[in-house]
Formats: sequence, C-alpha cells, structure tokens
Amino acid sequence: MANIIDGKAISQAIKDEVKAKVADLNGKGIYPCLAVILVGNDPASAVYVGNKKKACEYTGIKSVSYELPEETTQEELLSLIDKLNKDDSVNGILCQLPLPGHIVEDAIIRAISPLKDVDGFHPETVGKMVIGEKGFLPCTPAGVIELLKRSGVDINGKECVVVGRSNIVGKPMSILLLRENGTVTTCHSRTKNLKEVCKRADILVVAIGKPKFIDDEYVKEGATVIDVGIHRGADNKLCGDVDYDKVAPVAGLITPVPGGVGPMTIAMLLKNCAESVTG
Ligand code: GUN
Repeated sequence: MANIIDGKAISQAIKDEVKAKVADLNGKGIYPCLAVILVGNDPASAVYVGNKKKACEYTGIKSVSYELPEETTQEELLSLIDKLNKDDSVNGILCQLPLPGHIVEDAIIRAISPLKDVDGFHPETVGKMVIGEKGFLPCTPAGVIELLKRSGVDINGKECVVVGRSNIVGKPMSILLLRENGTVTTCHSRTKNLKEVCKRADILVVAIGKPKFIDDEYVKEGATVIDVGIHRGADNKLCGDVDYDKVAPVAGLITPVPGGVGPMTIAMLLKNCAESVTG
C-alpha cells in the first residue's frame, strides 16, 4: 500500500515559513500586500478567493479585495489593474479565473505587470520559467515540485509523465519537471497508448479534469502518483482524476484528494507574494 503525501502538512510548513519571512520583512518596515480581484458571482471562485484572503491573514500578508459585479466591463477591469500596477503599496495582483464571458482573459493576464504576476500567468513570466530565469512560478505546478522534494522524491533522471497540457497546469508542470532534470513526457487527449506511456512513469502527474480516470492499469508498481484533479462525485464526496482506491495499492507514494495538491496552490501563492517584495 502506498505512502500518502500529506499536502496539508507540507502546505502548513510552507505557510509557516512564509509567516516567518513576512514577520522579518515587517521588522524592516516592509509590508507585503496582495490585491485580489473577483469579478462576478461564480460560487467556486468566491470560495477560492475567500481561502486565499484567509491564508494571507494567517501569514501576515496584507490583502486588499476588489469584488466587482458580473457586468464589469473589460475597460473597467483593465483600468483597475493599471491603478494596481502603479500602486507601490501593492506587491502582487491576482485576478481570479474564470472571468465572465464578455472579458478576454488573455488581455487581463497580459495587463498585470510581470513584477506583480504572483499567479505566474503572464507570457513574460512563462517565458522566464521556460528558459530558467528567475521569476514567479505558477502556483499549482510549483506546489507539485515542492510536494515531491519535501517527500524525498528525487526527480533527477526519472521518467516523469504528465497527463494534461493546460496552460495553467500541464504545460508548466512538464517544464518544471524538466528543469529538475526529469525525463518528461506530456500526454493529452490525442496520445496513443496512454496506458503504456503512463505505466513507464516513475513520477505520474495527472491533470486532465476527469474524475477517477487513472486506475491501477496506468500505474507502475512503486510509482509516485500526483493527482491535480478535484471533483465532487455523485455521492457528494470529493475525488481526483485518479481512482485512489485502485491506485494506492500499486503506487509507492500518492497524493489524496482532498489534502494533496489542493492546499499547495495557495501556499505557493503566498510564497510568491512574500518573495515579490525582495525580488
Ligand atoms: N482559477 C483556478 N485556479 C486559479 C489560479 O491558480 N489563479 C487564478 N487567478 N485563478 C484561478
């Protein structure tokens, strides 16, 4: 039976490190501040944003909140971002996605100054990540790397398979594993022989958005399995992209859902915020 990677405990450790760093900065008269923008009434987004603000409070990072109505225009949102870009008291800007359909998300992502891009979504930030230059790393994939490192998983030279190629998780995940000297394969809906490819993995990261899609037939004995998915099942229970009950007996290490990757995203956001003030 696999050992469980405890994302709750690891994210707590990171939050405590951030808290100590923020206290140190405060002692020097520096007060990190995150601006959080939420547009519209998506209930899930409201929960995420609430959790991000609560986590800021825990670590001592100041947060300023902009909760805007669904009918907010793209121009209005761009004008707020412009104001926050110019505001020296704001170190990080987070605009919760998805945005209402009449707003072009890409235009908003590009409008946030790369200096304050704590989500790591701006094309300049992405470019720096790809070429290994210092800059903000996208929170969920960076959180997966932290989970692996803090669980003693050596990535160097390992067969890493990422299932999913989204801009927020799959693609940057593959790049970050490559930066750690993994041998990386990125799979997606057109991949042939998906089971065979996944079964090669020493480290399998799954971010496809399909409940319990990956079962024991996709997993090599002893592999490390990281599940980025989160879904609410018909039984009202949370589950991931991995069928935990089938995979846990085969895997060496596995992340649960909830309590695996989920809490790491916020922890890494806070880490980015605390680091944004010192460059
Ligand atoms: N929506 C879902 N995940 C994220 C995230 O990490 N950042 C932002 N801004 N929006 C999201």
